[in-house]
Amino acid sequence: MADNTLDSLFSRMGRFPDVEAANLQAWDATDKLLLDTAADLLAAGTLHPGSRIAVVGDRYGALTLGALALGVFNPDADPDAGADPDAAGGRARPVRVHQDLITGERALRHNAAKLGVTGGFEQHPLGPELLSGATVVLLQLPKSLAELDEIADAVARHADPGVVLLAGGRVKHMSLGMNAVLERHFREVQPQHARQKSRVLLARRPQPTTGAPPFPVTEVNAELGLTVCARGAVFAGTGLDIGTRFLLEFLPRMPQARHAIDLGCGTGILAAMYARSNPGSRVTATDQSAAAVDSARATSEANGLAGQIEALQDDAMGSLPDASADLILLNPPFHVGAAVHAGAGVKLIEAAGRVLAPGGELWTVFNSHLQYQPALQRLIGPTREVGRNPKFTVTASTRKSSGV
Ligand SMILES: C[S@@+](CC[C@H](N)C(=O)[O-])C[C@H]1O[C@@H](n2cnc3c(N)ncnc32)[C@H](O)[C@@H]1O
Repeated sequence: MADNTLDSLFSRMGRFPDVEAANLQAWDATDKLLLDTAADLLAAGTLHPGSRIAVVGDRYGALTLGALALGVFNPDADPDAGADPDAAGGRARPVRVHQDLITGERALRHNAAKLGVTGGFEQHPLGPELLSGATVVLLQLPKSLAELDEIADAVARHADPGVVLLAGGRVKHMSLGMNAVLERHFREVQPQHARQKSRVLLARRPQPTTGAPPFPVTEVNAELGLTVCARGAVFAGTGLDIGTRFLLEFLPRMPQARHAIDLGCGTGILAAMYARSNPGSRVTATDQSAAAVDSARATSEANGLAGQIEALQDDAMGSLPDASADLILLNPPFHVGAAVHAGAGVKLIEAAGRVLAPGGELWTVFNSHLQYQPALQRLIGPTREVGRNPKFTVTASTRKSSGV
C-alpha cells in the first residue's frame, strides 16, 4: 500500500523552478528506500509512532510529502490524542525540513500546492529549530563529506539523544568515507541492505558534542591574501577553484562598476576580490545555496568588506530588477544535482542578460570544451575572448542596448 501511495505521489511531482528535462526527475529510488525503511522500522518497533521526524536534503519534496502521505509520524505528543491527529489532544506536529537550495524549497512548496497539501511541514535552516526533539531524521546523503560532517554534527548536537538517523544515497555515489564521518558523530552506524542501487546507513547513539559548531571553516588563502569562510555544502570549501583563479587574473582589466554582481558566488571569493580592488563599487554576492550565501557573508565580514557586499540567496537573481547592474562575474555551474547538464549555466547567462544594464558586461570563465560562446552572444551580446589557458577560456560579453 505504501508503494502505491508513493508511486502515485511521486508521479505527480516536478522539479520546477529548477531545470526540468526528460532525463531529470523529481525523486529517486533513495527517497523511496528511506521512506520504506522508516515504515519498516516502525512496523518492527525500532521506531515508535510518536516519533518526531525531520528531513534534511530533500531535493524537491519527495521525502517530506512522502512522509506526510504515509502519515505514520509526528502525531501529537499526547498519546490520548489517539489515531486522529486533529482530535482533542491537538494537531499533528509538522514535518520539519531543511533544503540547502532555494529552488528545492520552492519546488517542495510548488509540489505541495499541486498535490493539494496545505501545511503539515515547516522549512528551517540547519540548526536547533529544525532538529530539537527530533527522534527520526531522514537524510538524502550530500555529495561532499564536509556537508555530511556539518549535517551529522547538527543532528548529534540538536536532536533527541534517542534519535535514529537514516542516511540514504545512490550506491555509486557512496563511499566508506561517509561511514567514517557518521562514526565521528554516532556510536552506532549500520549499513542496511541495498535496494535498486540505493542504500541506507542507520546511525544512532549520538556522540556527546563539545565546543562550538565546526562550520563555517575559516582559512587564510595566502595567494589571495584573503580569509575564506566555508559552510560544509559550499562549492570548493575554503579552496580556490582553478577556473576562479584564472578569472581573477583579469581583475585589473575589469571595468569599475557602480553595482557588480558575483553570480553563483559560492564562498564569495570573486565578490571579495572585486570589492577590495574597487572600493567605490557596491557588490552583490548571490547564490541559490543557503550554505554559499552564509559563507559569502562570513567571507565578506572576515575581510572587512561587509559594508560593501550584500549576500543574497536567490535563484538566478530572480529578485533583482532588470538592467540594475553594470558588471556580472560568473564561474558557471555545470552540474544539476549529480548530472552534468549545461542547462544550469545557460540559465544564469540568460539571467545575466536581463539584469545587466545596456553596455554592462558579463565576465565569465568556463572549461574551453563547453562552447558557451553562442549562448553568450545570443543572450548577452558581442562577446570577446580575453584569455585562454590549456583548460579554461575567459570571455567578456557586452549587453546589447535593446532586447536580449
Ligand atoms: C562553479 S560554482 C562557483 C562558485 C564561486 N563563484 C567560485 O568561483 O568559487 C557555481 C555556483 O553557482 C551556484 N548556482 C547554480 N545554479 C544557480 C542558480 N540557479 N542561482 C544562483 N546560483 C546558482 C552554485 O550553488 C555554485 O555555488
